[in-house]
Amino acid sequence: MNDLPDCVFFNHSIHVANGVGCSTCHGELDRMPLTWRAHTLYMKWCLECHRAPQKFLRPSSEIYNLHWQPPPDQEAAGARLVRHYGIDTTGRLMDCSVCHR
Ligand code: HEC
Ligand code: HEC
Ligand code: HEC
Repeated sequence: MNDLPDCVFFNHSIHVANGVGCSTCHGELDRMPLTWRAHTLYMKWCLECHRAPQKFLRPSSEIYNLHWQPPPDQEAAGARLVRHYGIDTTGRLMDCSVCHR
């Protein structure tokens, strides 16, 4: 498994409650080539989703489904889920202070 440095704030439940499934993060972490774990790239991985969460979100019924695949209309479905979960789209999720407190 991965380990975040102490300087980074991470909270599981906030992700799980907002439509980010376990396999979105852990599936990808398993498959990730080692270079992805280099520090700056790992931060980019967090930011990639915070910048455009609609690409990754799934319905709450699918959070624990390790075999979930995004539907062909993921962009549209994800945009509906962004509204459904009430996810912040002001860009605040990209602020340094969200993860570095
Ligand atoms: C947004 C990405 C993300 C999601 C979604 C996510 N995890 Fe994690 N998980 C992480 C990260 C990052 C760590 C390492 C945390 C650290 O080092 O402080 C981690 C650590 C863990 C660990 C190691 C023990 C620990 O707490 O450090 C377990 C077990 C785990 N996750 C299970 C799950 C399960 C089960 C789900 C679905 C309910 C899930 N995770 C969803 C990113 C995620
Ligand atoms: C696949 C998508 C995804 C990934 C990957 C992801 N996040 Fe998130 N994160 C979210 C969503 C969605 C929220 C909820 C935002 C909201 O409620 O407006 C969130 C919220 C958060 C919050 C709380 C923000 C607040 O409201 O103050 C923190 C902190 C956070 N993430 C840290 C991280 C860190 C650190 C990583 C990388 C280890 C990470 N996230 C990876 C999607 C993701
Ligand atoms: C969505 C979460 C997130 C946001 C937003 C974010 N970071 Fe990070 N940052 C991380 C994570 C996770 C790491 C640790 C990466 C690793 O160790 O693999 C990190 C590591 C770093 C490091 C290296 C520190 C160390 O001890 O290795 C610096 C410097 C940094 N971030 C600066 C910034 C700045 C500046 C911003 C705003 C422009 C920013 N970060 C925004 C998640 C985030």
